[in-house]
Amino acid sequence: MFDFLSRRRFLGAATAAMAAGPWAAMAGRSAAAASTSKPLRFLHLTDMHVQPERDADAGFIRCLQAANEAEAEFVLTGGDLVMDVFDQDYERARLLFDLYQQIVRDHTDLTMYPCLGNHDVFAWSNRRGVSPDHPKYGKRMFCERFDLERTYYRFDQGGWRFYVLDDIQPTDDNRYQAYLDEAQRDWLEQDLAEKPAEMPAVVVCHIPILSVTVLDTGGMWNEAQQMYQIPLRQMSRDALDLAQLFARHNVRLALSGHTHRRDRVEYRGVTFICAGAVSGNWWREQAYRGFPAGFSIIDLHPDGQFDFRFQELPWV
Ligand SMILES: [Fe+2]
Repeated sequence: MFDFLSRRRFLGAATAAMAAGPWAAMAGRSAAAASTSKPLRFLHLTDMHVQPERDADAGFIRCLQAANEAEAEFVLTGGDLVMDVFDQDYERARLLFDLYQQIVRDHTDLTMYPCLGNHDVFAWSNRRGVSPDHPKYGKRMFCERFDLERTYYRFDQGGWRFYVLDDIQPTDDNRYQAYLDEAQRDWLEQDLAEKPAEMPAVVVCHIPILSVTVLDTGGMWNEAQQMYQIPLRQMSRDALDLAQLFARHNVRLALSGHTHRRDRVEYRGVTFICAGAVSGNWWREQAYRGFPAGFSIIDLHPDGQFDFRFQELPWV
């Protein structure tokens, strides 16, 4: 099923017995789905920003309870799993990932494919005196936590291919930009070229590849020059290239998060959906700029079509 990932991955410290349960159940459901040509249903949960404060832990548990009821085969996460390790010392970073993984272990059997967000990269801000030589520095902590060899990978299910990409790249000023590094881009191009042409694909990454929501972010409008300016930490530097690449290789859907708002952009036959946030306004309130918290439910059909809907979450 996986390109290079083992079944044990993603489950953190789960026991082997726990690991066997959900996977065995999932394999059974997949076989049943194939025999009846039912669509393949998966969920997209992005921007959870799990933390002990603001009742974020309780909110994430409510989200997983709703996810469990959605009759989905698996979950693609969209990054910003925790809030936040980019600007934290190791103790706080460890606490946050512990909390996220404990909640997942305790509240769902769904496989949660990890996707890296900017808030999941340890200590890149360089404000806490963490050395780049720290064994967990940067993306190493994320990879270790989720038993990943690297932050991007792919798998096949239900006749579709799924690419989980990492578009968080470092800048010289201790921030980040959205693009695929050279090794990842080479891997993606080669894998798409080798994929059966008729096989449809889904891509997920954290920062949008193409999105209108970025225009509704503070500081995008330049009054003096009468123009919009889009920082590359809001939308991918690779936007136009990737749209063409996806169009050539039957990528039907590209999902993202990051902006905590929602939109749907159709371009070159590819649908780019920026899919809100589980945490709404970073757990301060349910909606951010009018966009309520929630997650996405996607049904994939064998002919490459899909149905998408967003499920709002209750705010208790
Ligand atoms: Fe976020």
